[in-house]
Amino acid sequence: AGAPLIDPFGRTISYLRVSVTDRCDFRCVYCMSEDMTFLPKRDLLTLEELDRLCSVFVGQGVKKLRITGGEPLVRRNIMRFFEGMTRHLESGALEELTVTTNGSQLARHAQHLADCGVKRINVSMDTMNPDKFRHITRWGDLGKVMQGIDAAQAAGLKVKINAVALKDFNEDEIVPMIEWAHGRGMDLTLIEVMPLGEIDEDRSDQFLSLRQVRASLLDRYTLTDLPDRTGGPARYVRIEETGGRLGFITPLTHNFCESCNRVRLTCTGTLYMCLGQEDAADLREPLRASESDEPVARAIQNAIARKPKGHDFVIERARHGDKGNPAVSRHMSVT
Ligand code: GTP
Ligand code: 5AD
Ligand code: SF4
Repeated sequence: AGAPLIDPFGRTISYLRVSVTDRCDFRCVYCMSEDMTFLPKRDLLTLEELDRLCSVFVGQGVKKLRITGGEPLVRRNIMRFFEGMTRHLESGALEELTVTTNGSQLARHAQHLADCGVKRINVSMDTMNPDKFRHITRWGDLGKVMQGIDAAQAAGLKVKINAVALKDFNEDEIVPMIEWAHGRGMDLTLIEVMPLGEIDEDRSDQFLSLRQVRASLLDRYTLTDLPDRTGGPARYVRIEETGGRLGFITPLTHNFCESCNRVRLTCTGTLYMCLGQEDAADLREPLRASESDEPVARAIQNAIARKPKGHDFVIERARHGDKGNPAVSRHMSVT
C-alpha cells in the first residue's frame, strides 16, 4: 500500500466519489439542460481501468467508495465493476462501497448490489407526486423509483433518500416526505441547490435556504442535533416525533469544507479535488502510460497536494441569479 493521502490543510482523504458515467436517463431541471451533450464513449475509462484506478486509491487509504453518475446503473456491465470491488471489502482495505442512484434501474440491480457487499444506498427523489416527478426529471417514472426502493429494502439495503430543496416546488412536501421516509425506516437528506453547470432555468428561482426550512420545521417537530456523520457532507438531526434522521447538506448557508475528506473522479479519469472548484488532474494519461501503478499513484499524491481549502460558491449569487454563469462550469453528473 502507498502513503496515505493527506492534503495541505491536514485533511485525510478517505472518501472517493467515482462518476462511472456522465449519462443519465433523467434530465432533472436543476441538474441538466434538456439537450445535454454527453462525453464521447471513446473517452471513457474501461471498467478494467476504473477498477485499477480505484484499487490504487484504496491502496492509498481510501476507505469509502461512492459510485455515482450521471446515473451509475445505466452504464453497461457496471455490475462487473461492483463485483470487482467486493475483493477490497473482503480484504478489509475498503470499509464501505455505496451508490447514489436515481432509482430508475434499481429494481433490477438491488439484490446484486447487496450480494457485492453494498450495505447502504442513496436514492435521489425530490417529490412524491408522480406528475411533479415527471416535471422535475422531465420524463421520469416515479412508480419505477418506488419499485426500486422496495426492491432495495427487500434486499436488506439501507436506503437514504436525497431531495434537493426547491423553492415553490417541494417546500410543501418536506413534511410529508419526512413522514414517509421515516415511516419506512429511511433517512432523508435535504440538499441546497448548487451552481454547477449550465441549465435552462435560473437557479436563483430554485434556491431554497435550508436554514429557513430548518427553522420552520421547529414549529412542528423537536429536532435534536446528532454529532455523528456518515463521512459525507450532511449534518443530521433526530426528529423526536418520528424517531428518524434528517440530514441537511448546506454548502451555501453553512460551509462544511473544513472537514472535507473526499475527492472526485470522473468517468474519463479526471480527478477533481473539490466539487466547487475547477482545478483538476488527469489520471488517465499516467494510468495508460505504464503497467506499473507507480506513476498514477504519484499523480494522485501530487493532486492531493493541491486540494483547495474550500469551494467558491457564494450565497449572494445563489439568491440573485447565475444563469449562464454558474460558479463551476461542469455539471454534478460529471463529478
Ligand atoms: P453519505 O453521507 O454517505 O450518505 O453520502 P453523501 O451525502 O456524501 O453522498 P450523496 O451522493 O448522497 O451526496 C448527496 C449530495 O451531497 C450531492 O448531491 C451533493 O449535492 C452533495 N455533496 C456531496 N459531496 C459534496 C462535496 O464535496 N461538496 C459539496 N458542496 N456538496 C457535496
Ligand atoms: N445542486 C445540488 N444537488 C444537485 N444534484 C444534481 N445537481 C445538483 C445541483 N446543481 C443532486 C441530485 C442527486 C445528487 C447526486 O446530486 O439530486 O441527489
Ligand atoms: Fe440524472 Fe441525478 Fe442529474 Fe437527475 S440529478 S438528471 S437523476 S444525474
